[in-house]
Amino acid sequence: MNSSKIFITFRTKSFIRIMKLISFKNYHLLSDFAATEIANAIKDDPSLVLCMASGHTPVLTIELLVKKLTEEKIDYSQMKFLGLDEWVGLPPVNEGSCNYFFKTKLFEPLQLNASQCFLFNAMTNDLEAECKKMDAVIADNGGIDVMLVGIGMNGHIGFNEPGTSFSIHCHVAELDNSTKTVGQKYFKEETVLHQGITIGLGHLMDAKKVVLKADGKRKAEVIKKTVEGMVSKNFPASIMQNHNNGFVIVDEEAASLLSKPH
Ligand code: PGA
Repeated sequence: MNSSKIFITFRTKSFIRIMKLISFKNYHLLSDFAATEIANAIKDDPSLVLCMASGHTPVLTIELLVKKLTEEKIDYSQMKFLGLDEWVGLPPVNEGSCNYFFKTKLFEPLQLNASQCFLFNAMTNDLEAECKKMDAVIADNGGIDVMLVGIGMNGHIGFNEPGTSFSIHCHVAELDNSTKTVGQKYFKEETVLHQGITIGLGHLMDAKKVVLKADGKRKAEVIKKTVEGMVSKNFPASIMQNHNNGFVIVDEEAASLLSKPH
């Protein structure tokens, strides 16, 4: 069986919030589900605007997506791809950068045309202009259709750190200490991390579909807060409870602290 359960969360205050939570036996089934969802979305809409996070969470999803698109001969030639964020000051050749991640894992294997790919240039000395440029890409392409994001150990999505407004668009963020520390895992050598440039939570709220993916025991506590905690800008991922087409997809370990029955 692919998915073990689907929970629906209802909250009553001024309106009803519905968030779908789907849990899978393991990381492979979880990743395969995400890859299939994205491949099908591209099949249905060849000019899909897809936004994805880098990091450890989406690695297998991307690998399986590349496989599906290629083997099933799905036409992705009109698809637009947007990278969620980037570490400020890092060159795209740095193996820990989001640029390097997407270029090696997605753009090169799929031989995407440069005109389909939009990544932040975090080396520019005009970061504000870079934000405006990405805001314009999103607007000019009619908004984001599908967004696949991960979650940080402080509840961040992209570099939308705790305290970030739910309506903000692309922006430069001062990184939380937790992000600077946890972020070292992407680099071979200790790397000074100060700021990030990111697509904002306002764009996430406007996206037609948002999928937040998490796996492993280390993510169990943040998933509990995301699904069952108060919606607050102090815990950015709680915004998922407000999205009317938001999915939280997890493996059993990441779901292990959720109350049952939900
Ligand atoms: P990870 O990062 O996928 O490497 O766990 C998630 C995040 O910090 O957003």
